[in-house]
Amino acid sequence: MTATSQKPEEIIVVAVARNGIIGAHGSIPWHCPEDLRLFRSITLGGTVIMGRRTYQSIGHPLDGRHNIVVSSTLQEQTGITVVRSFAAAVATALAAAAPIYYCGGAQIYAQAIDRADAIYLSRMNADAAGDVSFPDIDPLIWQVVQQERFADFVHLRYRRKCAEHGSACSG
Ligand SMILES: NC(=O)c1ccc[n+]([C@@H]2O[C@H](COP(=O)([O-])OP(=O)(O)OC[C@H]3O[C@@H](n4cnc5c(N)ncnc54)[C@H](OP(=O)(O)O)[C@@H]3O)[C@@H](O)[C@H]2O)c1
Repeated sequence: MTATSQKPEEIIVVAVARNGIIGAHGSIPWHCPEDLRLFRSITLGGTVIMGRRTYQSIGHPLDGRHNIVVSSTLQEQTGITVVRSFAAAVATALAAAAPIYYCGGAQIYAQAIDRADAIYLSRMNADAAGDVSFPDIDPLIWQVVQQERFADFVHLRYRRKCAEHGSACSG
């Protein structure tokens, strides 16, 4: 019998204000420790893919995760893998065989959304002022399969209704 190798799951992880905002002036315009703990528990042990601006706003590699940073300008540095294209990020992450988490920002989400298998979205209970947003989720493509209410947000897990638009396409 031969072992079958499964493609790692590809999941967008994002926190969104009620009005769709995800960022302001290079950072997240709210501080929500409960969502940060949730983000950590979801992504630990996996591969995180983020854009250069998000990486620089965090300021350090995320521990316990393989950090892939997409950038045409960033120098190689300890603790992260710098790749020069989104395609290179995906190829590197797939080779690692761990779950893949697209962690933003908007540029990375825009490139990931057509291939992600799932979206884990924390919907904050309040609006925010900002300059970067997350698109509306198309209900023809995505369905909520799980939700959990927290004090300041609702955590929603979406999956594709069918695989034909994503990396898990089976025809
Ligand atoms: N609420 C949330 O869950 C959440 C999560 C993450 C981030 N954010 C927020 O989102 C904002 C940042 O988002 P953003 O869209 O401005 O930036 P971003 O996606 O974090 O980073 C953009 C940068 O990534 C690099 N990049 C992206 N695609 C590339 C490609 N195909 N090839 C080469 N390089 C590529 C480029 O870096 P170079 O310029 O170096 O080439 C580009 O300038 C911040 O405010 C951040 O706090 C929010």
